[in-house]
Amino acid sequence: MSKDQTNQCCCGGNNEQFAKLDEVLVKYEGVKGALIPVLQEAQNVYGYLSKDIITRIGEKLGIATSQIYGVATFYSQFHLKPRGRNIIRVCQGTACHVRGAKAILQALEDNLKISAGSTTPDLKFTLETVACIGACGLAPVLMINDDTHGRLTPEAIPGILAKYA
Ligand code: FES
Repeated sequence: MSKDQTNQCCCGGNNEQFAKLDEVLVKYEGVKGALIPVLQEAQNVYGYLSKDIITRIGEKLGIATSQIYGVATFYSQFHLKPRGRNIIRVCQGTACHVRGAKAILQALEDNLKISAGSTTPDLKFTLETVACIGACGLAPVLMINDDTHGRLTPEAIPGILAKYA
């Protein structure tokens, strides 16, 4: 048997890839209600919950993968697809809406060549819409990671994105 084969786990990943996940799983062994904290920690480590990660969690915790997907898709904090290094949250709340939030979203989609809810193929940006980010006085507003950008115009979008590229 080759080294590669010995490192293969039953869900298709190798053991090294899952070393950090296994550390998390060991910590929660026998703990009731461990699924959500395990999913949170796994996502913190890997950025998102891949099929292989969910399969391994299911095996180790003795929970059906369908049940794990049920939980992971119910809570918006969990992501089943890779996320970009920069998370853009563009506000579509009422105050922003009346000040042209739709045009801002359109400018983002045009510049990034993705639609809201997606990630660019180079994993630089994930584009999300939110209802209000509590900065209505600066409408229309978006956040990139922890930075707030307000009083936006569609023309300003390429320059803002360039700072994170
Ligand atoms: S509605 Fe956009 S920040 Fe409040």
